Amino acid sequence: MVKITFLGHAAVLIEGKQGRVAVDPFLTGNPIAKAKPEEIQVDAILVTHGHSDHVGDTVAIAKNNNAMVVAPYELANFLASQGVSVHPMHIGGSREFAFAWVKLTTASHGSAYVDEEKTVYTGNPCGFLIKMDGKLIYHAGDTGLIADMEILGRLHKIDVALLPIGDNFTMGPDDALEAVKMLKPKAVIPMHYNTWDLIAQDPQAFCSRVKAETNSQCVVLEVGGTYEV
Ligand code: NI
Ligand code: MN
Repeated sequence: MVKITFLGHAAVLIEGKQGRVAVDPFLTGNPIAKAKPEEIQVDAILVTHGHSDHVGDTVAIAKNNNAMVVAPYELANFLASQGVSVHPMHIGGSREFAFAWVKLTTASHGSAYVDEEKTVYTGNPCGFLIKMDGKLIYHAGDTGLIADMEILGRLHKIDVALLPIGDNFTMGPDDALEAVKMLKPKAVIPMHYNTWDLIAQDPQAFCSRVKAETNSQCVVLEVGGTYEV
């Protein structure tokens, strides 16, 4: 059994017998997040790309937990320069870690870390396939609809797909519905919506369409809500 906890935006915790992983832990400055970075207990942190709403509290959480950060090579190098231990990977690459099997997937988006002083190029953005305790979870990261999702659906039996539906910066609901048809996951959890007005969406309406037009289940998680698979 693997427990997925929605922390708000694209931030999730994935916990099983094998380990505990956070993906894109953006909590500080996240208007919908409830958890505090110091409450997060993990073995590893997976980061899809360098945008601040995904890197979030990665450095603080990694240091608190002595946790390893897995990210695309350029982003991993940047995070290593912040003093955390990293494992660089890149798209198409997979690796069996103690906490999970992880594979980096394509995402069609940008990736740079920007703060008041500098802009750091952080390589290509990615999504993650994460297999823990025999359950396969797909976190799409920030992406538009891409034909590669058809390949993921053909090659993998995805138990849970976390898909952005916010539009503007990523897929909106129409394209996310097409993604579900290609990925054919057992269950879908929408993410990356309602954090700000710019990405306001009705996740229940999206899930109704998923249930009506596909064979996938669809679950709207409240912030702090969990789904077990
Ligand atoms: Ni982004
Ligand atoms: Mn984003």
